[in-house]
Amino acid sequence: QLNGSITIVVLGASGDLAKKKTFPSLFGLYRNGFLPKETRIIGYARTKMDRDEFVKRTTEHMKLGESPDAKKKLDEFLKLTSYHNGQYNEDASWEDLARYVEKIEGDTKQKNRLFYVALPPSVFLDVASGVRKHVYSDGFVNRIVIEKPFGKDLESSRELGTNIAKLFKEDEIYRIDHYLGKEMVKNLMTLRFANVLFGQIWDSKNIDNVQITFKEPFGTEGRGGYFDEFGIIRDVMQNHLLQVLSLVAMERPTGTDAESIRDEKVKVLRCIEPIKLENALLGQYVGNGEKPGYKEDDSLKNKNTNCPTFAALVAYIHNERWEGVPFIMKAGKALNEPKVEIRIQFRNVSGDLFKDTPRNELVLRIQPSEAVYMKFNNKHPGLSYQTLQSDLDLTYHRRYSDLKIPDAYEALILDVLRGDHSNFVRDDELDAAWKIFTPILHEIEQKQVQPKEYKYGSRGPADLDDFVRKFGYDRSGAQ
Ligand code: BG6
Repeated sequence: QLNGSITIVVLGASGDLAKKKTFPSLFGLYRNGFLPKETRIIGYARTKMDRDEFVKRTTEHMKLGESPDAKKKLDEFLKLTSYHNGQYNEDASWEDLARYVEKIEGDTKQKNRLFYVALPPSVFLDVASGVRKHVYSDGFVNRIVIEKPFGKDLESSRELGTNIAKLFKEDEIYRIDHYLGKEMVKNLMTLRFANVLFGQIWDSKNIDNVQITFKEPFGTEGRGGYFDEFGIIRDVMQNHLLQVLSLVAMERPTGTDAESIRDEKVKVLRCIEPIKLENALLGQYVGNGEKPGYKEDDSLKNKNTNCPTFAALVAYIHNERWEGVPFIMKAGKALNEPKVEIRIQFRNVSGDLFKDTPRNELVLRIQPSEAVYMKFNNKHPGLSYQTLQSDLDLTYHRRYSDLKIPDAYEALILDVLRGDHSNFVRDDELDAAWKIFTPILHEIEQKQVQPKEYKYGSRGPADLDDFVRKFGYDRSGAQ
């Protein structure tokens, strides 16, 4: 824990991520008393801005709520922050930033520094090396937070990794995958390893299939330039959904420290065979009369693009626990609803005494409205002997109504301040993740696989239900 003093430098301070996530999360932490006593926050970017403009931008997405002292807290928080502009690829600019940081730190004894890189990959290495060469604080704690995309495939990710490793030690690097900061994702370990009940049935003998679903009700509007280069598989599946999968599937770690957890995640990832094209369904949304299709996005350069905005991919884990169990990952933009969930479907009961008994399912809803619920079968109350599928339901906002669930970024920045790597991606983990996805990504691109069309606002391509059924998912109990 950095108890004493810290300077947080937000690189890319004028960008969207800083405005929407980094600064509001820092404010959230400040407001709740989680920033070290002596904290200074410096925004750095190329844009020239005066103080008023900087304050206007950084506070735009902060939610102050009803609390009477929120405004006071915000004023205090803003007193800790300042902005400095300069280039990303010129030594002179970095030297200038170093002088500025020294000036802000004044005669403080502990010059610990946290560098938050909220910038696109094109400038990433310039920034990391500028920081290392000129702004690194020798003899003190230095931490650098970096955001995906970490490369585009195994090769580019390794190249990036090698270059970063020349600049920073692995324990100084925090690769953010913000899904690891989400409450329900963090709950996975507790649920699995603090309940004898789940531990006993968590295997191929009892589980038929696992589905991890990511649905967004909006398209790539305005982000077409970025998205078209990456596609849905790189955007959310290789990282967010695979991270969730590894927490569902890994063996029990020997402890709750970062290395024990990450060791187990890497082990299970290495048991996953690269995903095959025949186990994939790709889609791209088209307009629905009201909302434009993907290809009509103004920010898109290549109007003939085959880029998938939807994918369903099935992974298999070759180990004693999971042999034969399909892990179905589904992700899509411009769908009918916002929903991210893990759905664990159990096998049919033996000797179906009550005829067509629906399968049990354990569902962890990551968002919106965090919940854990279990579908189980109950006698229809009253004079009937029919079986009724019911829910054992732990919906957070009902059960824990007075608790505020922190934003994922808030939780993760706090982990960085505490020096806890548990919820960050290790280099070998990233490597293992790319090995699973790189062959299929290359094949899709080489063969120019045509995605299936689906309408903006629909459930996805028409073949989706048949596809998941092929891998054993039984929708008969779906409500
Ligand atoms: C980002 C992706 O990593 O995650 C976006 O680049 C996606 O395309 C976002 O919208 C989803 O995050 P969340 O927290 O809104 O589910």
